Amino acid sequence: MNIYISLDTCAQSVGSFEIFEKLKGINNPTFTLNKRSTRALMWLEPLLEIEQDNKQIAITNVENIDIENILKNPLNSKNLIDNIDNQPYLKNQHRVIFKNLGKNDPTSIEDYKKLGGFRALETVLKMESKDVIEKIKIADIRGRGGAFFPAYIKWQTVLSIQSDIKYVICNADEGDSGSFADRLIMENDPFSLIEAMIIAGITVNAKEGIVYLRSEYPNAKKILQKAIDIAYQNNYLGKNDSYEFDLYIVTGGGAYVCGEETALIESLENKRGLVRPRPPLPAISGLFNKPTLINNVLSFIDIVRLFEGSRDMHTTPLQLSGAVKRSGLFEVANDITIEELISKFADTPIDDIKAVQIGGPLGAFVPKEKFYLKLNNDELSKEGFILGHASVVAFNKNTNMKDILLNLIDFYIHESCGKCTPCRIGQVRLKEILTNLNQNTQSKLILLYDLLDTLKEASLCGLGGLTHLSVLSILKFFGNDFGIGDIQ
Ligand SMILES: Cc1cc2nc3c(=O)[nH]c(=O)nc-3n(C[C@H](O)[C@H](O)[C@H](O)COP(=O)(O)O)c2cc1C
Ligand code: SF4
Repeated sequence: MNIYISLDTCAQSVGSFEIFEKLKGINNPTFTLNKRSTRALMWLEPLLEIEQDNKQIAITNVENIDIENILKNPLNSKNLIDNIDNQPYLKNQHRVIFKNLGKNDPTSIEDYKKLGGFRALETVLKMESKDVIEKIKIADIRGRGGAFFPAYIKWQTVLSIQSDIKYVICNADEGDSGSFADRLIMENDPFSLIEAMIIAGITVNAKEGIVYLRSEYPNAKKILQKAIDIAYQNNYLGKNDSYEFDLYIVTGGGAYVCGEETALIESLENKRGLVRPRPPLPAISGLFNKPTLINNVLSFIDIVRLFEGSRDMHTTPLQLSGAVKRSGLFEVANDITIEELISKFADTPIDDIKAVQIGGPLGAFVPKEKFYLKLNNDELSKEGFILGHASVVAFNKNTNMKDILLNLIDFYIHESCGKCTPCRIGQVRLKEILTNLNQNTQSKLILLYDLLDTLKEASLCGLGGLTHLSVLSILKFFGNDFGIGDIQ
C-alpha cells in the first residue's frame, strides 16, 4: 500500500505534518509513506491518498487519532472518497500551470523529469532567441502579476540592449490578500520555476537570476532552495557545456509595495523600498542600472508550459477564499462566471455571499447581481473591475462593507511608500472623508471624487493609482452600509 501526503503550508496548517510524523513512526511494512505535492483543494486537507491493488482512494480531513483505523482498513475510514482525479471539483478544472500538482514529490528531480520536466529547456536550447520570443508573442502570454503586460515586449527589450550584465528577476513577493498561487508553485513544483528562469536567462542573455521572495513564505524558501541546490548538482544551474546561469533567492522585508517592480529593485539594491519614477523601464535600466527582465512566478510557468508543449489553452488559476465552503485553487478556462466558481466549484449558495473582491487589496468589489460576469480580465475590465493576480475573496451576506473598506484604507495608508504626495497624504484624507460620509454627504462626495481622481491620475504606482476601484465599487453597490444609499 502506498500512502501520499502533502506537507505544503496549507496542509501543515491543519495538521498534515503531525500525521506524517505519526505515520513515519509506525513500524509497519505493509505501507510506504510518500511526500507529495498538494492538490490545492484546501478544504480537504489533511488529505491522504492511498494506492492499493491498483485502486486509488482518498481520505479527507484526516485526524491523528484516526490513523490506526485507517491503516487497519482504509476502505472503512470516515471521509472516504474515490479516486480524487474523478471528483467534479478537480475533473472540471483544466490545469495547465498547475498540471504537476498532486503528481510529484516537490523536490524530486526524477519525478519532475517523468512529468515532462526540462523538455522545454531542451527545445529552447535548439532555438534562436528571436524565435523563442516570437513564439511567446504568438501565444499572447501576458503578465500574471496583475497588469497583463505582453511578456514578449519585455523579453525583446532586454534582449535588444547591449550590456555585459543583465538580470532575470522572478517577482515572488505575492503580497495580494487572497493570493497563494505563486506559493503553491514554489512549494509544490519548484523545478518548473527554475527551468523557466533558465530559459529566460538563455533567451535574453542574462547569466544571473534572482527570486525575490516574500519573508512570510519560509516553507517556500526552504523547498525552492533545496530544488535550486539539486539543480546545481545536476548541472542545470551554474556553468555547463551549453550555457551559464546562476540562481538565488533574496527575501523581502514584508512591505506590500516591494511587490511593485521598481520598489522591488530598490529593495534588492539594499535601499528602502521606494517606487522609482519611469522611464527608464527596468527592461532598459533596472537592477544596478542593468537591463532587467521581471516577471511574476505564474508568467514564467506559463512560458515553460508553452515550450514543454503542455499549454493547450489559456487558463486562469483562480485562488478562492473567504466565506465559501471550499477554498483552494481552481484553474479553469477563461469562460467561467463568478457564479459558477462559487456555486459549482465552491458548493456555496450564491445568496450567502454579498460580494467578492477580485485581484487583491487594490481590486474592486463585485456585488452579487454581477456574478454573471466571466472571470477574465477583458470582461471584468469592461465593467470597471480587474482580474489582477486572480485572487477571489468572498464576503458573506452579513458583512458590513464600510468596515471592510475602512480596513482596506488603513492597509493603503500603512503600505504607502510615501514617495508621491497624492498617495502619502491622500490616503489619510480619504480615511477621514469616508469615516463620516453620512454627515454633509454631498459636499464630502465632491471632495471624495476629486481626491480619487487625483490619486488615479497623479500617483506614481498602482497603490495610489488603483485606490478608486475599491472605494467606488463599495460606494456604488453598498452605499447603504454607509447610511447614504446607492450612489450612481
Ligand atoms: C503596489 C503593487 C504591488 C505589486 N505586487 C506584486 C506582487 O506581489 N507580485 C507580482 O508579480 N507583481 C506585483 N505587482 C506588479 C509588478 O509591479 C509588475 O507589474 C510585475 O512583477 C510584472 O510581472 P508580469 O509582467 O509577469 O506580471 C505589484 C504592483 C503594485 C503597484
Ligand atoms: S502611489 Fe503610494 S506607494 Fe505608489 S509611489 Fe506613490 S506613495 Fe508610493
